[in-house]
Amino acid sequence: MRFYDELTSLKEQIGFDERFVPLRKYDNIVLSGMGGSAIAGMLFSDLFSSVPVTVVNGYDVPDFINENSLFIAISHSGNTEETLSALENATSRGAQIFIITTGGKMASMQGEKIIVPKGLQPRSSIGYLLMPLLRTFGLVDEDIQANTVEAIDRVLGMTDEIRPLAESIVENEKIPVVYGIPPSQTVAYRWKTQFNENSKIMAHSSTLPEMNHNEIAALPYSFLKDRFEFLVAGIPVGKYLSRVRISEKIAGVKFHLMPEISGEPVPSMFASIMYGDMLSYFVAEARKVDPREVSAIESLKAELAKTD
Ligand code: PA5
Repeated sequence: MRFYDELTSLKEQIGFDERFVPLRKYDNIVLSGMGGSAIAGMLFSDLFSSVPVTVVNGYDVPDFINENSLFIAISHSGNTEETLSALENATSRGAQIFIITTGGKMASMQGEKIIVPKGLQPRSSIGYLLMPLLRTFGLVDEDIQANTVEAIDRVLGMTDEIRPLAESIVENEKIPVVYGIPPSQTVAYRWKTQFNENSKIMAHSSTLPEMNHNEIAALPYSFLKDRFEFLVAGIPVGKYLSRVRISEKIAGVKFHLMPEISGEPVPSMFASIMYGDMLSYFVAEARKVDPREVSAIESLKAELAKTD
C-alpha cells in the first residue's frame, strides 16, 4: 500500500467497531504507550475527564495505581519495552487491564484485549488505536461517526491548499511551529511527530492558551524567527481566535489557520489530524524522502535489546 493510502485509510478506520467492557468500577484511568501508539491515549485524555486520566510514556507507572485503577496499554507492535514494563507494573498492582495491540508479546499477556489490523505503520493506525477508546467511554455515536467521516472527506479534498503549503515549507527550509487549541491540544503534538517521522524534519509544538504565558515573550526576539512556519492545528473560535490574532500582532508573525470544518470535538479532532498527516506527507514528497521508513527508531530498539 502507498504510504499516502495508509494515512488516508483513517477515514475507513473510523468504522473500527471494537470496544472494551469494564469488569468493575474504577476511580482513575492510566494509559500507557510510546510514540505513534501513545498519541491515541493523549488524544483520548484531551476529550475525557469524567475520572482522572493520566498518560504515561515510559517504563514506570504512577504510585497511585491500584486495584481501583483501569490501566490501558497501547502498543501497535505489542513489543515496545517501555509499555511492556508499565503493563507488568500495573498488573502487579492489581489494576484492571485493557490492551490494544496488533499482537507481539502483549497478545499473550493478562488483560482484556482488542487486536487491531496489522500492516500499517503505528502512526498510520491512529484510528484503529483510538476508536476503541472513544467507543468504550461513550465519546462517539452513529451521528458523530458519520460527521467524522464527512469531516475527514472534506480535508481529503483540500490537496490544492495543503500541497502548496508543504512546498513552501520545503522551498524556504522552514521549521514548523505548531500550536494546539482546546479541546484537543494534542493534535499539535501529532503534527510535530508526523513532521519528524514522515517528513524527517525537526518541528516544535505547543498549545494555546499556554504559549501566551511564555513563548509569546520569545517570539519577537527569537533566533531564526523568519525560519519558523507558524501553524495552528485545529480550528480556533471565540476567545482562541482572539488569542491567535493578538499573538500574531505582538510577535509580528502570521499563523496559518485551517479552514473551519466542524464545530464538534471528535470530527474536528480527526479533521485536524488528517490535515497534519497530509501536510507532513507532502513535505516528504517535496523533499523526496521516504515517509514510511523509520529505520532510526528500529535500529535504536534493536541496539537497546542487545543491552538486556
Ligand atoms: O511511529 C512509530 O513507529 C513509533 O513512534 C512507534 O509507535 C513507537 O516506537 C512505539 O512502538 P509501538 O507503537 O509498536 O508500541
